Amino acid sequence: PKTTVSVIKADIGGIPGHAWVHPKILEYASSRLREAVKSGLLIDYYVFNVGDDMSLLMTHTKGIDNPEIHGLAWSVFKEATENYAKKFKLYGAGQDLLKDSFSGNVRGLGPQVAEMEFEERPSEPLIIFAADKTEPGAYNLPMYKIFADPFNTAGLVIDPQMHGGFRFEIIDVYEGKVYLLDAPEHIYTILGLIGTPGRYIIRRVYRRSDLTQAAVVSVERLNLIAGRYVGKDDPVAIVRAQHGLPAVGEVLEAFALPHLVEGWMRGSHTGPLMPGKFVSIDPANKIAMGPKMTRFDGPPKVGALGFQLHEGYLEGPVDMFDDPAFDFSRQIAAFITDYIRRMGPIMPHRLPPEEMEYTTLPQILSTLKPIPVEEYERNRLKYISEKISPVAIAGGSTGD
Ligand code: F6R
Ligand code: MG
Ligand code: MG
Repeated sequence: PKTTVSVIKADIGGIPGHAWVHPKILEYASSRLREAVKSGLLIDYYVFNVGDDMSLLMTHTKGIDNPEIHGLAWSVFKEATENYAKKFKLYGAGQDLLKDSFSGNVRGLGPQVAEMEFEERPSEPLIIFAADKTEPGAYNLPMYKIFADPFNTAGLVIDPQMHGGFRFEIIDVYEGKVYLLDAPEHIYTILGLIGTPGRYIIRRVYRRSDLTQAAVVSVERLNLIAGRYVGKDDPVAIVRAQHGLPAVGEVLEAFALPHLVEGWMRGSHTGPLMPGKFVSIDPANKIAMGPKMTRFDGPPKVGALGFQLHEGYLEGPVDMFDDPAFDFSRQIAAFITDYIRRMGPIMPHRLPPEEMEYTTLPQILSTLKPIPVEEYERNRLKYISEKISPVAIAGGSTGD
């Protein structure tokens, strides 16, 4: 019998602003999933948040993309929005529920989804990742390190089961195309693609020797769904570890260096991905309360919960970045935060124009009426002597 692990997450409102999830919402979601365990739909579950995103971790035997599982998640998000987020006037209530037309699957409706169905091994260590104030491509570098870089993963050199390498499924989210590439043979090509994390995203990874699936990343891009700025896509991921797959410590090692990712304030800035600690874990209610997003609405953070899976039951969680060794990574991330913040609105701290298209900046810039260079040079004295700049007054301010 196969087990399915599903992580479905959404931002349905923050407290305050985009900083955190209201504890009552986590409690509500937990009570709903508890009922689903009683009714037999789920085997087990855990509810947690990182920043303003609530993740529903669910185990079952229904396979991926199952309408009942997706329907359950959708109804939890919908009803938590109606009963709590709207009532408390939480910020951005229902933010990630972009469409109203649930018909069996949450993909394309706003929530992020990472799911994997597999035969449980004799022992099945799982790491569940969730990141806030960043995008799915934020996992590109760590996934590459975990499954293709022997300087990160000693097992690629030492363990015969891993020596044949891993197969990467990379999706081009603009063109809707998939690239299947093998490490180590194609690492230069893989890097050529995934170096553009806003477009080419590592979605699944397989061990080549037997096609065991080792990882899955959520890849929904909200802007492409909504056609306007709706925040970044705060991604979740599932990684299986050990016994011929990268060890738990090799999986986590890839997050020791806080690499730069896109997102952060207004989804418009580059910043370090800080490995965050959970604030509290409540085993009785199956709730883990994650890191808060405070400095400049961030910095971007990733949380990691470790479990041992048995017959679909989740033994855990263990807060994987709660280790003094990761305090040092957090210090580095805090230092990078301080450093890069001093650049203010200047690139590359602020994102390049293509990425700003989905923000509100174009509204502001479109009010300007710049003067053609030659015309300006001919009449420069006239232009510079005007009391108020003729460029800025043309369209006025958007001031909404
Ligand atoms: C980032 C994010 C926040 C908001 C920011 C401004 O993904 O959601 O950084 O963009 O707090 O929000 P508004 O414009 O709603 O005040
Ligand atoms: Mg939010
Ligand atoms: Mg978020």
